Amino acid sequence: MAITVQTYTTKEEAVRVAADAFEALIRERAKAGKTAVLGLATGSTPIALYKELIRRHKENGLSFKNVISFNLDEYCGLPGTHDQSYRYFMNDQLFNHIDIDKANTHVPLGTLPDAEIDAHCKSYEEAIKAAGGIDIQLLGIGRTGHIGFNEPPSSAESRTRKVHLDELTRKDNAVFFGDLAKVPHYAVTMGCGTVLDAKKVLLLAWGEPKAEIVAKSIKGPQTEQVPASWLQKHKDCVFILDKAAASKL
Ligand code: GLP
Repeated sequence: MAITVQTYTTKEEAVRVAADAFEALIRERAKAGKTAVLGLATGSTPIALYKELIRRHKENGLSFKNVISFNLDEYCGLPGTHDQSYRYFMNDQLFNHIDIDKANTHVPLGTLPDAEIDAHCKSYEEAIKAAGGIDIQLLGIGRTGHIGFNEPPSSAESRTRKVHLDELTRKDNAVFFGDLAKVPHYAVTMGCGTVLDAKKVLLLAWGEPKAEIVAKSIKGPQTEQVPASWLQKHKDCVFILDKAAASKL
């Protein structure tokens, strides 16, 4: 199975294509009286897509009432009220601006004591299954090759669990926290196996800093040293790139 690559001159064009995929799924399911199950991501990459989906909600009547969402990951130690938590990010960047029922939005909990984390991770996986599985999983990619927070080494079979964050990832994310010391060392993330179970996967990447890891993920060997390379196993995985992110392919 090969990853499908779509390269666009501008990020704006690329974002419209990704938004079209989400809109088509949501509208088709709504017509049939069914739900659409979205796997959502955080980081700077999907912000423009969320803006476009909000615009389509406000201007084109795209409703999210039939949407159930599952986010990839959450930092350990940050409650949803913390402005760097991924729950806060999702409310702020998307959920507060559309008509989704917040009860249908799921983000792993980062504040549970260690003794309760395994059970929480299992119930997260079960909730995805009970919803019918993820229809479209949105991904960004970290410079370590991580998807969600699956840092190298992460196996193709890995499931939702607590993970230790790579120093490069902490440094990349320090800009959002304003101080490296404030970036958590641990997170809860869906596994690579959880992501591979999604019916469709859309990975977005912008800019030259992502070019090398994008090329490794698509053309390199499938290895736990580059967790995104496991996406080569998926039967419907599309990388939506701008020119700069595709420059090393
Ligand atoms: C973060 C997130 C990932 C994201 C990646 C890239 O740490 N856990 O889901 O894809 O790193 O972030 P950015 O989009 O800001 O480059």
